[in-house]
Amino acid sequence: MAIAPKPLVAGNWKMNGLRGSLETAMAIARGVDAGVRARSDVLICPPATVLHAMTSALIGTGVATGGQDCHASPSGAFTGDISAAMVADAGAAFVIVGHSERRTLHGETSADVKAKAEAALGAFLVPIICIGETLAEREAGRTIAVVKKQLRGSLPETATGAGVVIAYEPVWAIGTGKTPTAADVAEVHAEIRAELGRLLGKAEAAKVRVLYGGSVKPSNAAELMALPNVNGALVGGASLKAEDFLGIVRAI
Ligand code: PGA
Repeated sequence: MAIAPKPLVAGNWKMNGLRGSLETAMAIARGVDAGVRARSDVLICPPATVLHAMTSALIGTGVATGGQDCHASPSGAFTGDISAAMVADAGAAFVIVGHSERRTLHGETSADVKAKAEAALGAFLVPIICIGETLAEREAGRTIAVVKKQLRGSLPETATGAGVVIAYEPVWAIGTGKTPTAADVAEVHAEIRAELGRLLGKAEAAKVRVLYGGSVKPSNAAELMALPNVNGALVGGASLKAEDFLGIVRAI
């Protein structure tokens, strides 16, 4: 059996955080000691306005930074948008693409997400590609079909196993306190791994970190993170408080 990739615990701050919240990032960094670093990689994806300052503040700690989105084009007349090169220039190593809030609120399709992920790869960023079903899709028994289709549509052809991260986030579990059962999470992650095998080949697929996201908190992290084919977490609300985020980090 292939060795599981090193887990990644990523905090997605969404549209939360001013310069004063760099202190929260530093508090997180203080908790990421040698023991934590040996077990997992830790990442914070703050708003773009504090990305550079946070990256500078975190140099030499075990905490990396990431963007929350990037544009597919390298530059141009796209008011308000941020290119992958800009995210990299701010010091980030990762960038989230295709978060369900982008897919829903900004109408992003899997083709858009794929183009953004390609741009990220071109800027030497690791894209964290988000996929996940809505409640209606789950209730209609379409979870696996939806997740596989989003994965096929969003993954760049040039992806390598170590060069991308997949985040499975059931839309109905985001920010709601609800999570699927452990068995449901394990089933979806196994299907994602199998689909990655068809897309990338088995050896590369084994290297992909497949994160679970959606109401991860200190109290449920240990159970979720121990599941087969779960290689870390994408954490929203609970990443805004250092103690909660560290509680999740320590659960691995
Ligand atoms: P949540 O968000 O942890 O607040 O559910 C997760 C996410 O949207 O990435």
